[in-house]
Formats: sequence, C-alpha cells, structure tokens
Amino acid sequence: MKLVFLGPPGAGKGTQAAGVAKAFDIVHISTGDMFRAAIRNQTPTGLRAKAFMDAGELVPDAVVIEMVKERLAQDDCKNGYLLDGFPRTVEQAEALDGFCPPDAVVDLEVPDEALLARLTGRRVCVKCQGIFHISKLADETVCPVCGAELIHRDDDKPEAIQTRLNVYHAQTSPLVGYYRNNGKLRPVSGVQAPEAVTKEILSVLRGDA
Ligand code: AP5
Repeated sequence: MKLVFLGPPGAGKGTQAAGVAKAFDIVHISTGDMFRAAIRNQTPTGLRAKAFMDAGELVPDAVVIEMVKERLAQDDCKNGYLLDGFPRTVEQAEALDGFCPPDAVVDLEVPDEALLARLTGRRVCVKCQGIFHISKLADETVCPVCGAELIHRDDDKPEAIQTRLNVYHAQTSPLVGYYRNNGKLRPVSGVQAPEAVTKEILSVLRGDA
C-alpha cells in the first residue's frame, strides 16, 4: 500500500500516521521529521532547510524531491509507504507520480479556526517524537510516554503558523483537485476525536488495500 497524508498544518497527519502505517505494515515517512533530524545533525540539507522552516515557508522543491526519491529507494519501502507532508506542491506530486505513485491520498479536513489552537498548544517529544497538546498534559515539559523533554516547535509560534496556513492555501491545497481528478482522493473529517479519525481512515482505505 502506498499512501499520502494531505492536510493543512495541524490537521493531525503526524498524530494519525504511526497507527495507520502499522495497520498496513508500511513505513511512515515524514518530510518535516527528516528535515528536523537533518537540522539537529547539521547536515548540508538541514542547514539549507532551517531558514525556510523557521519562517514557515516551503523548502525548495528540488531539495525535497531528491530527498524523498532517495528515501523511497531504500529496502524498508518495498512493502509501500505512508508519506506525511509530501507532496506539498503540484511539482512534487508530479515528481512522485514519476518515481513511485501513491495508491490513495487521505485528505484530513480541518478548518483554519481549529488549527491555530492546535498548533500553538502542540508539544513534541525530543526522544520518542510523540505529539501532544497542552490541554491533555499534566506537565507541559515532560513526555508522558517516555519521560524525555517536550519542546514547542520553532515554527509553532503565531507568526510562522499564519505563514504556514497561507502557504498551505496557496501552494498545497491545489493538490486536493489534483488527486480528486485522478480518483485517488479520500477525504476524512479531522475534527473528530483522534480515535474516531483513525477509525474513519482505516475504513475508507479498506477498499484500496
Ligand atoms: P511538517 O512537520 O510536515 O509540518 P506540517 O505539515 O505543517 O504539519 P504539522 O506537523 O504541523 O501538523 P500535523 O498535521 O502533523 O498535526 P499533528 O498530528 O502534529 O513540516 C514542517 C516544515 O518542514 C514545513 O513548514 C516546511 O518548511 C518543511 N517541509 C516539510 N515537508 C516539506 C515539503 N514536502 N516541501 C517543502 N517543505 C517541506 O497535530 C497538531 C496538534 O493537534 C497536536 O497538538 C495534536 O495533539 C493535536 N491533534 C491532532 N489530532 C487531533 C484531533 N483529532 N483533535 C484534536 N486535536 C488533535
């Protein structure tokens, strides 16, 4: 199964990805996580991506496409993939269709009003990469799963969030039409409880497996 998760920043792509990837026995690949790891390791790709990410802008297509193409050529992708955060432009979608087209594209639908509160309150674990919201945390600084430090992402500051939403509407939302036209779009409401979202995703994908 080759899957893409589409949806605006904060729609719940990362929250849903691990469980859905496990259900289909495919590897979860988040381009945002790949860039954040590259920044931590100070690789040339990370150094190039950092300024774009901090500002809430997209990293240039050529850099992302090359990185994903190399990643999908690795052995653990033989059974398929779940791409979270890629493609994000029509150019990226056309490139993916050229080297490893998806079977289905889940579009997590959440209105902008809900996204700001989700992102300003998001905390991420530096160790297990768990994703949380402060409304559900007893201590905003400690991961309830593994005990490591929780951080507030640099691009989850209000100015960067607004830029990310604008970038999503201008550059990424055209992909909804792109995948609807080729019959691969699977819209799912992202405003339900996380467990209900997972259930709906698995249900709509059952026919594609
Ligand atoms: P990336 O890391 O991909 O960020 P994003 O797409 O903006 O998505 P997020 O991680 O912000 O949100 P999410 O949908 O995963 O939501 P989450 O599950 O965390 O990209 C970061 C940057 O990297 C980009 O801005 C760009 O610079 C660069 N980049 C990456 N890919 C690129 C590409 N292809 N091309 C160019 N540049 C690229 O949930 C958010 C919050 O909501 C959490 O607090 C969570 O607890 C809560 N939540 C989740 N589900 C629910 C629910 N059902 N109900 C209530 N709350 C919920």
